[in-house]
Amino acid sequence: MKYKDHDYTLELSTATQAAREAADLIRDRAGRINGESIRKKGMNDLVTVVDEEAQRIIIRVLEETFPGYSVLAEEDDKGSGSEENEGFRWVIDPIDGTTNFAHGVPPYAVSIGLQRGDEVVVGVVLDVSRDEIFTAVRDHGLQVNGRPESVSGTEALSESLITTGFPYRSIGHLDLYLEVLSDFMTHARGVRRMGSAAVDLAYVAAGRFDGFYETGLKPWDVAAGLLLVEEAGGRVTDYLDRHNPIFEEQLLATNGRIHAEMLSLLARMQDVYR
Ligand code: IPD
Ligand code: CA
Repeated sequence: MKYKDHDYTLELSTATQAAREAADLIRDRAGRINGESIRKKGMNDLVTVVDEEAQRIIIRVLEETFPGYSVLAEEDDKGSGSEENEGFRWVIDPIDGTTNFAHGVPPYAVSIGLQRGDEVVVGVVLDVSRDEIFTAVRDHGLQVNGRPESVSGTEALSESLITTGFPYRSIGHLDLYLEVLSDFMTHARGVRRMGSAAVDLAYVAAGRFDGFYETGLKPWDVAAGLLLVEEAGGRVTDYLDRHNPIFEEQLLATNGRIHAEMLSLLARMQDVYR
């Protein structure tokens, strides 16, 4: 599984193993989360003891095989790693969809991406609630449970099922958000809110949803998922149609065919970043 000058076979299998070990813990603890196990990081922003334990498992597994690679992880966003790692960095969300998990509602997922410089080169999203694994190495396509899959062929927004994330940490732009949501409800076949951006992206990649947009996402929510979409033949940009939005906090991911139509409805939110 070569991309440019590097073979990513070992990175993919190690990230897959890390995701599976974390998923075993998460599955075991699901439905047994009580109030003392939940902490608030900010308004409506939760972390459970299971997020923290799962993250430790993932980092341990990755660092055993790749001790020099940097790490950026949701529950410890200071990052780590040596300078001598040729620009490799794991970007980890131990549970994407923590609020769902804390309430016992699917989906929730483990998300592990590997960046080299500005590019995401490996992506693994494991939907724990359905035990489905979405994997990609750049230039080698998307696999869902080991089978190749691709984005949908839907040509028009009017025939599309769209997914989004509601603002919840900061609701300063709520009126504008609701106007745009109402445009999507009017112009698309349907709109969903799953509660896990990693699963939203994985489902766009696998051709289930035709498009996804959300404002205010963090690198660990999107790193793996955006590679899945690109490798499945889709397109990922910010609301200004600029490529590689991992740090942009604006994300539009589509099958490519409805990208322009979605961009035009999102034009009013071009200056909104959270
Ligand atoms: C959240 C989920 C959610 C999205 C939020 C994310 P977390 O991640 O992806 O769908 O709307 O913006 O922060 O906090 O559950 O890991
Ligand atoms: Ca997340």
